[in-house]
Amino acid sequence: MIGKLNHVAIAVPDLEAAETQYRNMLGADLSPAQDLPDHGVRVIFVNLPNTKIELLYPLGDASPIQSFLEKNPNGGMHHICYEVDDLAEACHHLTKSGARVLGDGSPQIGAHGKPVIFLHPKDFNGCLIELEQA
Ligand code: CO
Repeated sequence: MIGKLNHVAIAVPDLEAAETQYRNMLGADLSPAQDLPDHGVRVIFVNLPNTKIELLYPLGDASPIQSFLEKNPNGGMHHICYEVDDLAEACHHLTKSGARVLGDGSPQIGAHGKPVIFLHPKDFNGCLIELEQA
């Protein structure tokens, strides 16, 4: 069911420091910082030949990244995103299999303007999983 790795998201406590580190130490190709207020994040994309990394920094008071950073002050891997061909079918199959879909259990428009769902990390080895309609 799952296809390509779309991205790995890393929560960072200092976006400028992370940007400098990825650019200067790792020699990465970065996009400019972008605010996504609907998702409570400021994001920089690290463009890799086969996928991308998202550096996530909290934006606004209700940011989900803020609470993550309170638990993980040095930052850390926040989620991993796989592509699926048919998100509605994937959602149905996962729910039937006992996995918990976060929120109201139905696809929402994600940070890239495509439908996504998030799966409860406790059901997937402690890893928050995002599934995005390819
Ligand atoms: Co994501």
